[in-house]
Amino acid sequence: KKALPAALSLEVFHNFSLVHDDIMDEAPIRRGKPSVHTKWDINTAILSGDVMLIAAYQLLEAYDAAMFRTLVPLFTRTAREVCEGQQYDMDFEKLESVSLDDYLHMIRLKTAVLIGAAMQMGAIIAGESKTVQDQCYDIGLNLGLAFQLQDDYLDAFADPSKFGKQVGGDIIEKKKTYLYLRALERSNEIDRQRLIGWYQQTAPLRPEEVQTVIDIFKNSGAAQDNLIAVRDYTQKAFEGIGLLEGDSGNKKILLSFAEELMGRIQ
Ligand code: IPE
Ligand code: MG
Ligand code: MG
Ligand code: MG
Repeated sequence: KKALPAALSLEVFHNFSLVHDDIMDEAPIRRGKPSVHTKWDINTAILSGDVMLIAAYQLLEAYDAAMFRTLVPLFTRTAREVCEGQQYDMDFEKLESVSLDDYLHMIRLKTAVLIGAAMQMGAIIAGESKTVQDQCYDIGLNLGLAFQLQDDYLDAFADPSKFGKQVGGDIIEKKKTYLYLRALERSNEIDRQRLIGWYQQTAPLRPEEVQTVIDIFKNSGAAQDNLIAVRDYTQKAFEGIGLLEGDSGNKKILLSFAEELMGRIQ
């Protein structure tokens, strides 16, 4: 119960970031419904997002001064990092040479640190030592990396009726995802050049071109590698949970949360 205001704060922050993310990504659909800027307009989405960010801070006012003072710097650092990650994500659309390490750094910032911070805040509120707090942060970080790798995989390969977002949206926006970067490494020269050409052109890709990109992702083995990367980071998170001292019943809750989070691929 003590952790609920912080959990809610992070949840509202997360949803704020999605409202603004959908503007940046020109995403028409979120959770199976029109995104905020599509249903209303961009200004409404900007301002609603702003209010949600403010509300996220307000929710932390539920804590006493000492706890507030401890939580806010972690929250603020994380929020800044998410914005930095979002900028990299957009910069990479236009940049020609992006490495897999650049990509991993970018998703660490835009996604993973938030789950890390959520885990650490739980540990702080529970009165755990700095060592346990750091362990929790790392578990969240690995889960977050796995989560975003999976999100990027699903963006190309999900069942459109279940995904709740536009399938192929990352390709349309020319996102330099793991799928794209790995496909460049693994496909033959003809496909490589086609990919590079499509991702450099300013005109939007036609639906059949988007489908060909998806086929290249699959046939090059990039899709398979993406799934392996998801599994590896999930495994790291599970190992981290295993190393935590404490009640095994509580650890089971964490493990099943991690499984649920990763259960979108089936
Ligand atoms: C969003 O990443 C990360 C943040 C909102 C900070 P994506 O752009 O991949 O998320 P989706 O696919 O729109 O949910
Ligand atoms: Mg985005
Ligand atoms: Mg997006
Ligand atoms: Mg995505």
